[in-house]
Amino acid sequence: MGLPYRLVVRPAMRFIDSERAHGLSVRALSTFVENRGAQKLVSSIYRTPSLPITVFGRLFRHPLGLAAGFDKSAKALGAWPALGFSWLEYGGVTRFPQEGNPKPRMFRSDTDSALINRMGFNNPGAQSIRETLTARRTAGRWPHTPVAANIGRSKTVDNARAPADYAETFNLLYDHADIFVLNVSSPNTPGLRELQEDSHIRDVVRACTAIRERRSGLKPILLKFSPDLEPDVLLSCAGAALSAGIDGFVATNTTIGRPPPSNTRSRRILAEQGGLSGRPLHSKSIEMIGELYDAVGDKVPIVGCGGIESGETAWNAITNGASLLQLYSAMVFQGPSVVGRATRGIKKRLAADGFTDLQEAVGYSRT
Ligand SMILES: Cc1cc2nc3c(=O)[nH]c(=O)nc-3n(C[C@H](O)[C@H](O)[C@H](O)COP(=O)(O)O)c2cc1C
Repeated sequence: MGLPYRLVVRPAMRFIDSERAHGLSVRALSTFVENRGAQKLVSSIYRTPSLPITVFGRLFRHPLGLAAGFDKSAKALGAWPALGFSWLEYGGVTRFPQEGNPKPRMFRSDTDSALINRMGFNNPGAQSIRETLTARRTAGRWPHTPVAANIGRSKTVDNARAPADYAETFNLLYDHADIFVLNVSSPNTPGLRELQEDSHIRDVVRACTAIRERRSGLKPILLKFSPDLEPDVLLSCAGAALSAGIDGFVATNTTIGRPPPSNTRSRRILAEQGGLSGRPLHSKSIEMIGELYDAVGDKVPIVGCGGIESGETAWNAITNGASLLQLYSAMVFQGPSVVGRATRGIKKRLAADGFTDLQEAVGYSRT
C-alpha cells in the first residue's frame, strides 16, 4: 500500500460513510491532480512499469485501467493516468440526469475486501457530461491514455425504448471517448439486466452501430455482462451482439450473489441490497472470462474485471482470456499503489513462465 494512502487517506476514510469518502477522494483528485506539475509529482509516487499491449487497434502502456463507476461524472480524467492507470472508463452516463437511489447506497466490508453498491446511475446526464468534456478538451487537459465511456439506460425509459436511449447518449459522447461500453448489467436499475437477451441486445447494439456509421467512425463498442448470467444465456447473448457488430466484451459487472459472511459486521453488510464487487467476485468473473474466451476469443478481445487486486488475480484474468483489465474495489481497499503492484506482478509472471510479450499469455490456460 502506498505511503501517502496508508498514512493519510485510509485512516481518514475509516471514519466516514463510504460514498462520502469516495466523493471526497474524487473531488481532491479533480482539484489537485489537474496541472502537469502535480501530475508529474503523483506519477513519480505511483510509478508503473511498461507492459505494452495493442488492443482495439490502440497501444496500451500496460493492461490495467480504472473500471466504470469510480469517476461517474468524468470530473477527474487527468488524475487516473497520474495514479498509474493505462486507461480509464468514465460514467455510467445516462441520457437524462439522475439522482440515483436514496443514501446510504454504498457499503464496505473490510474483512471480505468487498463493496456493495446500489447507486442507481447517479449522474448529471449525457448533455452535461459532454459539456464538462468539451471544456476539458478546449483547456488542453485531455489525458494521453485511451478513454472509455460507460453508457447506461435512463431509469425513466423502458426496455422497449432502450435502443434509442443508448444511441442518443452514444451520439452525444461520440467525440469524447475512444471506446464505448454498453452497460446492460447493473443490478441497480430495475429491468436493466433483462436487456441481456438476444433480440434486445441486437437492437441496442444496432442502434449504436448505426450512429457510428452515420458518423463514419470506427470507435469500438463493447458490451458489459453480469456475472449472474447462466452460461447458455451468456453465449447466446454474446453471439447476438457479435452479429449486430459488437467489438468486444467486459466481464464482469457486480453480482447479486453473496459469499458466506466472515463475521457479524460482514453479515450485516452482505445483507444490504445491491451489486457486490471485490475479492468474492473474482472466481465468478474468471469463470465468465474463460467461457467467453472459449466461445468468441478468436473473434474479439475481452476486458477482465472483478476482484483484480494483485499480480496473481490479474494474471488469472489474462491467462483465462482477458487482453485488458480493470479494477474498482481494490482502489478502495489498497489505494492507487495496487496498479503498480499488480502490473509488476504480471511482468514477473511473464518472465518466470518464459513469455516474450503479454499477448502470448492471453488465454494461455484455456488452451
Ligand atoms: C460504487 C460502484 C459504482 C459502479 N458503477 C458502475 C457503473 O456506473 N457502470 C458500470 O458498468 N459498472 C459500475 N460498477 C462496476 C465496476 O465497474 C466493476 O465492474 C465491478 O466493481 C467489479 O470490479 P471490482 O471487483 O474491481 O470492483 C460500479 C461499481 C461500484 C463499486
